[in-house]
Amino acid sequence: MKLIIARDYEEMSKKAAQIIAEEIKKKPNLVLGLATGGTPVGTYRELVKMYKNGEVDFSRVITFNLDEYLGLSPDDERSYHYYMYSNFFNHVNVKPENIHIPNGVAEDIDEECRRYDEAIEKAGGIDLQLLGIGVNGHIGFNEPGDELLTATHVTNLAPDTIKANARFFESIDEVPKKAITVGLGTIMKAKKIILLASGREKAKIMAELLDEDAVSTKVPASFLLLHRDVTIIMDEEAAEVY
Ligand code: GLP
Repeated sequence: MKLIIARDYEEMSKKAAQIIAEEIKKKPNLVLGLATGGTPVGTYRELVKMYKNGEVDFSRVITFNLDEYLGLSPDDERSYHYYMYSNFFNHVNVKPENIHIPNGVAEDIDEECRRYDEAIEKAGGIDLQLLGIGVNGHIGFNEPGDELLTATHVTNLAPDTIKANARFFESIDEVPKKAITVGLGTIMKAKKIILLASGREKAKIMAELLDEDAVSTKVPASFLLLHRDVTIIMDEEAAEVY
């Protein structure tokens, strides 16, 4: 595991964008796994800047997002679809047919989960997966529990997650209680993983993750300790307790 402690959010975002751009240079048809939440917004901003300066080309890149709220349609401003288009896809040249985000309003959700895994498989799996981390150690929406599922599935959001994500909604009651997420299997099969963490609210979980040296379904991100090629980039605030 490679650990990079960046001065602040800006530096963390720049470093993540640089690694992503380098991987695309090496493999123009990179299969890129993408995350949402507050943490990667700066990374997307940097990538858009690099694209506008001619430093990176997304024309052959294939993207798969980690998750989507159940019941939010793609045009709902609070959906991860909307987030991805407004923060990234509307500003770069990823081809629409190469963009994949789970459909939170699919008529048959089980079929949607199956279809999503098949599409990832068909693309050859994820080459580079970008991840954030929940305050409770979730990755994607794989929440702490007695077991973790390998494939794409519907998950119940943990109370901590609902609380943390309430800032993106008018009130906590409006936060969906369920989501579709890719499973731990898909994440762990990614050839390369970048995990981002920023801010004091992530300091406790990052210390737990890095100090424990143990794997537990109670901290889904701890499984990353078993992966061959993980780079953790966190800012000084997130590294405060570690
Ligand atoms: C969200 C997303 C995750 C994200 C995490 C942290 O709920 N499902 O993919 O990494 O929680 O979010 P944030 O970056 O806003 O702290």
